[in-house]
Amino acid sequence: MSIINLKDLLCIHKNLGAVGAFSTYDLFSAQGIIAGAERVGRPVIMMIGAGVLNRQGNDEVGRIMVHLAEKASVPAAVFLDHAKDFASCMKAIRLGFSAVMIDGSALPFEENISLTKQVVAAAHAVGVSVEAELGALAGIEDGESSELKLTNPADVPIFAEKTDVDALAVSIGNAHGLYKGIPKLHFEVVEKSAALTATPLVLHGGTGLEAAQFAKAVSLGMKKVNIGTEIKRAYMDTFVREHSNDTQSYDLIGVPQKVKQAVSEVVAADLDFFAEGWKKY
Ligand code: 13P
Repeated sequence: MSIINLKDLLCIHKNLGAVGAFSTYDLFSAQGIIAGAERVGRPVIMMIGAGVLNRQGNDEVGRIMVHLAEKASVPAAVFLDHAKDFASCMKAIRLGFSAVMIDGSALPFEENISLTKQVVAAAHAVGVSVEAELGALAGIEDGESSELKLTNPADVPIFAEKTDVDALAVSIGNAHGLYKGIPKLHFEVVEKSAALTATPLVLHGGTGLEAAQFAKAVSLGMKKVNIGTEIKRAYMDTFVREHSNDTQSYDLIGVPQKVKQAVSEVVAADLDFFAEGWKKY
């Protein structure tokens, strides 16, 4: 099985609910994500924030992701999350990524369209898929904060047609990071947007949403769900707990195996739920 772009991955998954996309930070999170997908035999999206990939030395993390996707036994897309500029997208494509997100959501509508079109032209020319964002999510992602701006569904078909993006993130009251309490999601934005476009819609800020909220979002047309903080939580809680069990052993061989296992369990459960488990709600 080789690495697959987002468009083709969403196509082979079209009779199911949504595909899970999981944030990657290093070798162990990357291995855990692939292991979780292989365990349940489902397609997966392994993503890394542009702010993480662009850190000094992190090209190597990108190369590891591409390598693991190439040898995975399930279809796997390698995805650059929330790039704010053209150059970051081109860098990921040169590393071998199969999908990029150009996030022009902070720009005026026409400027978002123009930046997205530029990335789509370059990416599609080499078979790489593109996600964009309309409206803006609240919360902090890789150290950058933003204010909530709900997506206007009427903008969705115009944006989709003018840019030819392969997936579109919409803002429905979801946020990056941990929610304070249960967020109120504006499902009418999903419903109206999905009725106006065939472009697959994306739900960011998955960590902390309730099963019933995922189920409703997927039933209304969300085709990709992003999970970031939950991966960090599984990773770091496991690392700290396992080290605390025996602080003198400094078990840097055994502890990472437990970390990978914890990440893979999150991924396996989420992939099953987003693909089919949601139907029980
Ligand atoms: P969470 O960290 O809230 O799960 O969001 C991740 C995300 O949407 C990345 O784009």
